Amino acid sequence: MTTLLTLKNLTKKFGGLIAVNNVSFDTDEKSVMGLIGPNGAGKTTVFNLITGNYASDAGEIIFDGNPITGLLTHRIVSLGIARTFQTIRLFQNMSVLENVLAGCHCRMKSGIFGGMFHTSAQKHEEKQAVDRAMKELEFVGLRRYTEQLSKNLSYGNQRLLEIARALATSPRLLILDEPAGGMNEQETDSLIGLIRKIQDRGITVLLIEHDMGLVMKACEKIVVIEYGSKIAEGTPGEIKANPRVIEAYLGTDEN
Ligand SMILES: Nc1ncnc2c1ncn2[C@@H]1O[C@H](COP(=O)(O)OP(=O)(O)O)[C@@H](O)[C@H]1O
Ligand SMILES: [Mg+2]
Repeated sequence: MTTLLTLKNLTKKFGGLIAVNNVSFDTDEKSVMGLIGPNGAGKTTVFNLITGNYASDAGEIIFDGNPITGLLTHRIVSLGIARTFQTIRLFQNMSVLENVLAGCHCRMKSGIFGGMFHTSAQKHEEKQAVDRAMKELEFVGLRRYTEQLSKNLSYGNQRLLEIARALATSPRLLILDEPAGGMNEQETDSLIGLIRKIQDRGITVLLIEHDMGLVMKACEKIVVIEYGSKIAEGTPGEIKANPRVIEAYLGTDEN
């Protein structure tokens, strides 16, 4: 199996707080991997380090064999890493389609304002972006909401829209921060199906999720962190049976 992403001894401090402490793990290409742990464990910070939203204090991030540590976010996106956010970040007063187009534009040569000049090459590129956005909306099941304002979508559908927007950047690695947050049981079940379909496209998925049903069903490998440090790594079966994980995390109701 090929490794797509490697974190090596990654550390991030906020003042005196060590939010991520010497964390290392590998993510296999085309796999679905879960990152779990109690609230405040440092999971989102790990994602922010991978996507360049934060600079690490120590350690290395290797994507597809190349170090990406310290690169700017837009560069990391162009290399093939896309994400969604724990707190939904959509343009609420833009349509569903426009939100996905905002994702496509980072890969377009003429950029978001190129359309103002309307050369035929730009029109062609614009049409391709719309086609692509429609395809991703169809893929996540939001095709019928294309013209609606994002703010009018249900919470679960807004999460799907964020996934469509991320997919429109043609990622090799898709990072999902609590994708089932705010979803009901039925929406969560269909999200598991969607994650499988994403994997079937050859896209590697790395996700943070509190819904253990989803984590155990969707992930082939799970990394557990507590107080910024990795405390376990393994298959869902291994994680469920790990006494340290049960004590730190699975044994409590609050997560
Ligand atoms: N930008 C920031 N500035 C200061 N502290 C932060 C920042 N982001 C996260 N933290 C702190 O780092 C710790 C880990 O946060 P986070 O990665 O969001 O945890 P998780 O996603 O596992 O719930 C928490 O104590 C949080 O308060
Ligand atoms: Mg978080």
